[in-house]
Amino acid sequence: MIQARNLVAFIITAVAAFVYICNAIPQVKSEPELMATEIGESPEELVAAGKKIFSSDRAQCLTCHSIGEDPKARCPNMEEVGRLAATRRAGLSTAQYLIESVYNPDAFVVTGFPRNQMTPVNKPPITLSHDEIFAAVAFLNTLGGVTDEAFVNSLKEAQDPWRKGLLKAEAAVEQERIPIYPGNVDQGKAVFHDQECIKCHVVGSEGRQVGPELTGIGASQSGEYILDSVLEPDKVLVRGYKEIVVMQKQEEEQDAFSWDEAETGGEIRGVALAWLPDKKTPRILRLSLEEFGERTEREIELGKVDCVGDAIVGVEVAGEITSFCGEYVSGDEDSGVTLSILEDGRWVELDVEAANISYLTLLGSPMPSNFAELMTPREMYDLVAFLVAQKGAK
Ligand code: HEC
Ligand code: HEC
Repeated sequence: MIQARNLVAFIITAVAAFVYICNAIPQVKSEPELMATEIGESPEELVAAGKKIFSSDRAQCLTCHSIGEDPKARCPNMEEVGRLAATRRAGLSTAQYLIESVYNPDAFVVTGFPRNQMTPVNKPPITLSHDEIFAAVAFLNTLGGVTDEAFVNSLKEAQDPWRKGLLKAEAAVEQERIPIYPGNVDQGKAVFHDQECIKCHVVGSEGRQVGPELTGIGASQSGEYILDSVLEPDKVLVRGYKEIVVMQKQEEEQDAFSWDEAETGGEIRGVALAWLPDKKTPRILRLSLEEFGERTEREIELGKVDCVGDAIVGVEVAGEITSFCGEYVSGDEDSGVTLSILEDGRWVELDVEAANISYLTLLGSPMPSNFAELMTPREMYDLVAFLVAQKGAK
């Protein structure tokens, strides 16, 4: 119950923050509205009319977008959209991409921005006519591009299927009108499988133990914590689950490691599943790693590796840079760093002075950090509801 309340409280804060952010966007002065007949046909007339439409209250574009830098705007800046459009989606020309962006915003979501926020502009609440959309896009193209006769023709061609009703916006937008809070536990379970969380986490009798078991996560953690863990895995790093790197000894035969230097550059990264002591060899490390899109396990003899740990430091002495890896102990690039490194089966401390550090890499969570882009807000809250409901004993 406490968890559920926390989640609700968090959601209310999140919604309040969103409303606040939206209101904080400066309201750009809107232009008086145009009649459809005033739009005109020449490129110049279209651009002039499109600019008015884009800035009108009814089109609402400026409630979210900005032209030029505006730190408060939380939607793509339109300053260069006429140039960027051709680079956004393989196979789509500038005209095709811009048309698709306004009729079906979810077909392609610009990296770093939320899905399901912009609604198709030919539908409520915006409801621009096809002619108005035509002019607005003719205008958008001038932001970084040139709207001439040739562009107007390609625009006509790109818009034609939308005018004829042959293309339709994705259903996701409609679905979003259903309130997304609180999430649905059963649908969240499906998301947990679809997003392949199950490949790294155990829930009940299913899953794999690359990351922490989540069977009892709802009994000890709030919805807010779970959401943070999914959106920003590096923010809340569970101890013992960092990624580690293993570097190959130069002189060793590749066979001894069963990994190919040409393929891995002599180093591999993964999650340590276990360190097994062994009489004959100093130690065996069991590592779970991602290879060719699959999770595999490897056993590595620690006596035969050059180094292992969650940090890599490049040490520069007389112009030569040597890389060391080890367990991070303390410090940073400015103050010097201390690592615990494995030498002849023993851990010893290595201090590197700031002046000698050429680079320092601290590895973070092996959990992917792009789930915000892979899921709709609805799926995300269903997933959180599912995990909050996991109150079983570990
Ligand atoms: C409620 C906020 C909102 C409103 C209103 C809105 N947009 Fe958007 N728009 C977004 C978001 C968020 C994105 C990025 C996500 C995506 O690609 O769907 C976006 C993306 C775009 C893109 C693609 C930009 C790029 O860099 O690739 C275009 C073009 C665009 N919007 C045009 C418009 C026009 C024209 C209007 C007004 C008729 C409008 N938008 C109204 C939120 C909004
Ligand atoms: C490649 C493996 C991998 C995948 C895929 C993965 N995780 Fe994780 N996850 C981890 C590891 C490792 C940790 C521990 C390190 C950390 O805190 O980031 C973790 C941590 C977590 C935590 C915090 C657990 C705790 O005890 O505090 C949650 C919650 C979580 N993951 C949920 C998810 C969900 C939900 C998905 C799917 C959307 C997912 N993970 C996908 C590996 C993975």
